[in-house]
Amino acid sequence: MEDYGRFLAFLASSLLVGFVSVILSLVWVLHYREGLSWDGSAAEFNWHPVLIITGFVFIQGIAIIVYRLPWTWKCSKLLMKFIHAGLNTTAMILAIVSVVAAFDFHNAGNIPNMYSLHSWIGLAAVIFYSLQLFLGFAVFLLPFAPVRLRAALMPIHVYSGLTIFATVIATALMGITEKLIFALKNPAYSESPPEAILVNCLGLLLVIFGSLILWMASRPHWKRPPAENAKILNPIGATPEGTEAESTMTNSSNADKSDLRSNTEAARKQNIKFDEAGQRSTM
Ligand code: HEM
Ligand code: HEM
Repeated sequence: MEDYGRFLAFLASSLLVGFVSVILSLVWVLHYREGLSWDGSAAEFNWHPVLIITGFVFIQGIAIIVYRLPWTWKCSKLLMKFIHAGLNTTAMILAIVSVVAAFDFHNAGNIPNMYSLHSWIGLAAVIFYSLQLFLGFAVFLLPFAPVRLRAALMPIHVYSGLTIFATVIATALMGITEKLIFALKNPAYSESPPEAILVNCLGLLLVIFGSLILWMASRPHWKRPPAENAKILNPIGATPEGTEAESTMTNSSNADKSDLRSNTEAARKQNIKFDEAGQRSTM
């Protein structure tokens, strides 16, 4: 891998910053706020920031860069898909529980729901994330989508994934600001009490975490090499039976397989086309 040392430095920094963010969110709710419980009180609301920062920010961030870890490049693409999908599913479950905690707290205290920009953007992010997860499973994990559809959807998958991730960070910042303005009364937020300083630092760390992940995910030379997919797109005769190509793509492309068999030259050209489009490692 090009720039291996730099990649490791980015990875270590993002893990550290993400981990410290989770710890700070816990310190915030356990030390400065009411703690954690599930009884409709403010302590139930506190699950909202903790689970969002753990799941929707930290775990989602790791899920995004998991294909880029160079020591996983010898693992099968199918295994990496399971890890990527599993981490994203975990992130979504935590996000949903966290939003339920916020709604439950509001309902228990007769506080109106969905009035703020934070809640609108936040709910939109959760809905689009669920859609992304569903389409990811349907198109890239289940063996039914043809190779052409996978290649066509991959740039959209990557773009929407990164956009949702950035939106989640922005939503978290809005939520943090709201909570500090609501909760800090005496002394007020404007008087910069220690809680405000701690949570402002948490917000800064979330921005740094997001920037590190987005940087790592947007370096073309840190992308998982395309070897296995090149095999998939090669003429069938060149692909040994029972390889990863078979396990990730079985049944998916029976039509494609016969196309490829019947026209080796067309398959080779198709291969070059996918390569040119930068889609080699995206199946
Ligand atoms: C409320 C989503 C992060 C603080 C809400 C609501 C949603 C939501 C849907 C509406 C609940 C209701 O109307 O009953 C999200 C999402 C986040 C996120 C998707 C992930 C990025 C945070 C964070 C905090 C926070 C990190 C920091 C404490 C609040 C507060 C409310 C709230 C104070 C109640 C006031 C309001 O409705 O705006 N959130 N939230 N949120 N959230 Fe978040
Ligand atoms: C790649 C996001 C769910 C399959 C990516 C990338 C992002 C992303 C940002 C680009 C990574 C890179 O360039 O290294 C997401 C999000 C998801 C999600 C936010 C959930 C909401 C899924 C699911 C699957 C999947 C369920 C099914 C297995 C893939 C594949 C790649 C990919 C095959 C290409 C990896 C490569 O370039 O080698 N995803 N994804 N994704 N995702 Fe997802």
